[in-house]
Amino acid sequence: MLRLLVADAVAEATTVLAAAHVASPRVDAELLAAFVLALPRAKLILARFTDEQLERFRGLVRDRASRVPLQYLTGTAPFRRIEVAVGPGVFVPRPETEVLVEWGLQWLRPHPGAAVVDVCAGSGAIAASVRVEAPGATVYAVERDPAALEWLRRNVLGLGVTVVAGDATDPTVLADQDRSVDLILCNPPYVPEIGAAGLPAEVTAHDPHAAVFGGTDGLDVIRPLIGRFADLLRPGGAMAIEHDETHAYVVPTLVHADGRFTDIKLHHDLAGRPRFTTATRGSSGSGVADLRP
Ligand SMILES: C[S@@+](CC[C@H](N)C(=O)[O-])C[C@H]1O[C@@H](n2cnc3c(N)ncnc32)[C@H](O)[C@@H]1O
Repeated sequence: MLRLLVADAVAEATTVLAAAHVASPRVDAELLAAFVLALPRAKLILARFTDEQLERFRGLVRDRASRVPLQYLTGTAPFRRIEVAVGPGVFVPRPETEVLVEWGLQWLRPHPGAAVVDVCAGSGAIAASVRVEAPGATVYAVERDPAALEWLRRNVLGLGVTVVAGDATDPTVLADQDRSVDLILCNPPYVPEIGAAGLPAEVTAHDPHAAVFGGTDGLDVIRPLIGRFADLLRPGGAMAIEHDETHAYVVPTLVHADGRFTDIKLHHDLAGRPRFTTATRGSSGSGVADLRP
């Protein structure tokens, strides 16, 4: 039996994926080959496929060419120091969210025993990272979608994260924690429906719609969450909300308009795009905004 060099199969797959407009065809081909062989990517160069492995690899390449997310095919997504299990029904965590978590971990340094809530938890990438990187924190993860909840429960198994099934905008969800949460980290659905046409097929055809889109302007979930976060946080507690880069003005303005937050700041991702807003819960209990200059 003649075994095909992986390098040749990868070259063939790269052509197939490039023709399907996959953004990083060579890297994806190599990662799929490494997955089939259970080898690190760096060790592919002299490896060979058996007929069975080659057939499996070509099947995965066909799926990737139809724009199934790479992480759904390999079953895992890297996120900071961990790998989370992902597949159909759950949002694949993105690198920009790692920056939001970094901000949260910096905040936690002087507050090691803090109560942290990952709101809109999806796979649980944020909650699990916080437990791994700040083990003294008490972590809750709120998610409402039944399919996502299955992935979330699997990813936080054994980590001591409390999973809360429910709509995070509902004031009865986590009501027992009102005014006692130290830190909220949130990556909600926020893509404006009006921008859907420009998105890659991986997002429009495979990421769960309710995980990505936040209504026409992208703010349907963020708007009610801001007031809910003010209810949950203790005075001096903090929050970080990821948002679309087109929300650089509107999200800080909505946070200000709630009237209960101070120290409102806009943050940028590694590509320099404005991607999340942080704020501190002030000591005033009222939600009345003072928008005077
Ligand atoms: C963009 S994904 C983020 C997932 C994860 N936090 C991450 O960063 O990879 C948004 C998640 O919020 C969930 N979600 C949307 N609206 C929600 C709501 N009102 N309450 C709780 N979860 C919600 C969706 O099901 C989805 O899993």
